[in-house]
Amino acid sequence: MKEIKIVLLLLLCPFFLFAQQTVSIIPEPVQLQLGQGAFTIDGNTTVRLENARKELKPAAAFLASHIQRISGYELRRKRKKSNAISFSIENINGIGNEGYRLSVSPSGIRIAANTKAGIVYGIQSLLQTLPQVRTNAALRVPSMEITDYPRFAWRGMHLDVSRHFFSPAAVREYIDLLASYKMNKFHWHLVDDQGWRIEIKKYPKLTEVGAWRVDQTDKVWGERPQAQPGEVPTYGGYYTQKQIKDIIRYAAERNVTVVPEIEMPGHVASAIAAYPFLSCEQKPQLPLTGGDYTNMSSNYCPGNEQVYTFLQDVLDEVIALFPSEYIHIGGDEVDKTSWKNCASCQALMQREGLKNEEELQSYFIRRIEKYIVSKGRKMIGWDEILEGGLAPQATVMSWRGESGGIAAAKMNHDVIMTPGNPVYFDHYQAGPAGEPLAIGGFNTLKRVYDYEPVPQELTPAEAKYVLGAQANVWTEYITTLNQLEYMVLPRVLALAEVVWSPKEKKDWMDFNERLRYHFKAFGQKGLNYSLGNFTVDIKPVSQNGNLTVALTTEAVNGDIYYTLNGAVPTPQSIKYEGPVRIDSTVTLKAVTVVNGHVMGVQPAEQSFVVHKAIGRDVIYTYPVSKYYQAEGPNTLTDGVRGTTAVGKHWHGINGSDLIATIDLGEEKPVSSITLGTLQNYRDWIFMPQWVKFEVSTDGQTFKEVGTVNNQVSVDEKNAVIRDFTAAFPEQRAKFIRVTAKNLGTNPKGHPGEGKAAWLFADEIIVK
Ligand code: ACM
Ligand code: ZN
Repeated sequence: MKEIKIVLLLLLCPFFLFAQQTVSIIPEPVQLQLGQGAFTIDGNTTVRLENARKELKPAAAFLASHIQRISGYELRRKRKKSNAISFSIENINGIGNEGYRLSVSPSGIRIAANTKAGIVYGIQSLLQTLPQVRTNAALRVPSMEITDYPRFAWRGMHLDVSRHFFSPAAVREYIDLLASYKMNKFHWHLVDDQGWRIEIKKYPKLTEVGAWRVDQTDKVWGERPQAQPGEVPTYGGYYTQKQIKDIIRYAAERNVTVVPEIEMPGHVASAIAAYPFLSCEQKPQLPLTGGDYTNMSSNYCPGNEQVYTFLQDVLDEVIALFPSEYIHIGGDEVDKTSWKNCASCQALMQREGLKNEEELQSYFIRRIEKYIVSKGRKMIGWDEILEGGLAPQATVMSWRGESGGIAAAKMNHDVIMTPGNPVYFDHYQAGPAGEPLAIGGFNTLKRVYDYEPVPQELTPAEAKYVLGAQANVWTEYITTLNQLEYMVLPRVLALAEVVWSPKEKKDWMDFNERLRYHFKAFGQKGLNYSLGNFTVDIKPVSQNGNLTVALTTEAVNGDIYYTLNGAVPTPQSIKYEGPVRIDSTVTLKAVTVVNGHVMGVQPAEQSFVVHKAIGRDVIYTYPVSKYYQAEGPNTLTDGVRGTTAVGKHWHGINGSDLIATIDLGEEKPVSSITLGTLQNYRDWIFMPQWVKFEVSTDGQTFKEVGTVNNQVSVDEKNAVIRDFTAAFPEQRAKFIRVTAKNLGTNPKGHPGEGKAAWLFADEIIVK
């Protein structure tokens, strides 16, 4: 935050009531120098287009409509120089296509840039110095000089309109939000299993049939029963080509390019419901209602030439509509079982010498790329398109972490970084207690802010292939515009600073200071936003037989207050000064307090169970996956129980058994041992087949004290937590050994059938 104390001005200037002026622009400009005094926009202020009048008219109208809304003043376009806001397109070195210079002095405002995009960004910065609602106060813009331009060319936000349909008005609001923070790509995910959302004139059933499903919005995504014959599909919608053109124009006026995603070859159950010939099975199906894919076809058949004809026809209409240089073709998460069982697919593989179904996918993607390139466009695909060999000119969107992006950059392909952690904005940003139900994950505001799109693994030459970064917003769990706002605000502001501002100018404390203006602006605009970054993070540390808890908050200037008796914490509760020792079974609740006010939605809360193995080292025979380390090596003895909502307290092992040995430090009487486990079908996590418990006094000879068999069906699709407990006559034991038998591979009928299953465990409770 830039601020000047206008001590001198107190003597010189009639506006001495404004003891200080602040500017809170997000993303932080490259250079910002505050001057003295301010320019006041009033009823006589005009807009002056120094040149390029025709080209700059929409920008002038954009500024005028905002000023009119907040003040009632009509900024007329005039040639006069005084009391004017001037725009000029000129040749400025070093600021590129999207940069701008904004000069404010008491006599006027001037925005200069190389293109109209830069002028629009100058206006966006200017607007961030003004109120966002109707005001009678003077519209004072502090004197300043800004020179500004982006770090990355790709500053993207994605929106899934298939799982939830958002109206054209909602889409325009979303584009406005992106544009305010200088994001320049709107990745419009128009096609997925649960709804086809773009009118294609040659194939009207795509929207007549594929855009509508039986309405089960009242049920959680994974728990929606499939449609039954005779049920009327009433949920859905689509965008006509006319509406799409309007949205593209609206976005272009704000320097936002709309990049369509026409998903293929998987995630297209909606297209198949409309035209069953597109799938390998070619059998009719009803539109999907949610996450139950049983007996559904969701892939195109790459062995069928008619599929390519269909897709080229669709792409012809898409290319005619969208001026975007890039067309996104999806390519993610293709379950290739249907291709394995399809005579046409297998015959094609024979003819083309394709070794496996991954190569079949590559064959398909290459053909599509060739077509797109022949039309003068470029193709983007999700990182799965690397798997059977990358199409020659493809741009890769790296979502399963950064490894796909790193591999592609090393092959001299352009990449866009959009790793699930930390830039999936459908993931939790706080809680999860008190938060709206989300798909999982945990991407806090600070984690987004700290994201660096250029991985260390890349040389400077390879780093040039990183075009930028993007956040993705999948909407299985986001069913209203209000909730959409909540998921992206304020995280999109953090991302904007990641992709626009110079790396060395990033400053978390300063960002938080500037955020205050924007929170106020969200309130003024009636936008729903999250205060989630005030949620206290509760981190248990167990060592040498002791359990302590460290509490942190991302909020700058925030203090933490907590309770251990179940009460809701207030500023009169215990103030956190350092790690808290836990030596009985308790529930800890904590809040962030800023300036005497409790922040956030709901206190952070964690229960601890204190038992005889707390803080003891756990030795694993087979290692825990590097992806599921939770709080580190002692996660199973930290007294913290995992929940179904997020993976954060679980240790995960892929394919192998869990064999954990604990040294209790000394011989103790023991009469019960428990292992907590999780099943989450959709994440390939299954209950162990059985759990064996053993005790020992010397660590050499173990004696079994019980084996407990699994009771949960492998077909149970809802997440379940189960404790396996052996209770037995009291024994003396120094060592405990727990063996949990992995299911081995995902069961028959599961999307990952035959691949290694995960086993997840949280606590080993010894009593
Ligand atoms: C994705 O999240 N499936 C690209
Ligand atoms: Zn096939």
